Amino acid sequence: MKATALLESQHRKVEALFKKLENGRTDPQVVLEELANSLAAHMAIEQEIFYPKVKEIDADVINESYEEHAVAELALKRLLMTDPEEEAFMARVTTLKELIQHHVQEEEEELFPAVEKKVNEAQLAQLGKLMKARFEEVMEAGFAAAVPRGMAKTSSDVSKKELSRRKTKSAA
Ligand SMILES: [Fe+2]
Ligand SMILES: [Fe+2]
Repeated sequence: MKATALLESQHRKVEALFKKLENGRTDPQVVLEELANSLAAHMAIEQEIFYPKVKEIDADVINESYEEHAVAELALKRLLMTDPEEEAFMARVTTLKELIQHHVQEEEEELFPAVEKKVNEAQLAQLGKLMKARFEEVMEAGFAAAVPRGMAKTSSDVSKKELSRRKTKSAA
C-alpha cells in the first residue's frame, strides 16, 4: 500500500475509535488502550520514517506536524490519567479528538497531495511497506513502550533529536 494511503486508513481507524469512545457503548478503558496504541504507532511511523523522508517537500508543515504530535501526545497522556467517571473525561476525549482532526486535515489536504506529486508510486509503495512493518512493531510493544514517561518530553522530541543526530553524523 502507498505510504499516504496507509496513513489515511489509520486516520479513519482512529476516527472510528473516537466515535466508539463518544457513544459510550464499549468499555472506555478497552477503547482507550487501543486508541493510545494506535496513535503512538501512527505518530512513530510518521515521525521516524515518513516526515524525515518528505521534509524537503514542505518543511513548515512538517515542523508544525512534529509540534502537533507533541501536543496531542500530552493531551492523550492527560486523558489516560483521567477516570472515565470524572467529569473531565469526555471533555478531554473531545479536546484530543479536535487536536487530531485539525492535524489530520492538514496532512490530508496539504501534505499528502504535495507528497504524491513529488514522490513516485514505487517509492511510496516501498515506504508504505517499511512503515507498515514498523507500525505493527510499535502496536505490539504498546503505548507505554513507545513514548517517554512523564510530561516533560514527547516521542516527537525524541524523533526530532534522533533525526538531527543522524544528519550531523552523515555531514561529518
Ligand atoms: Fe501526523
Ligand atoms: Fe497522520
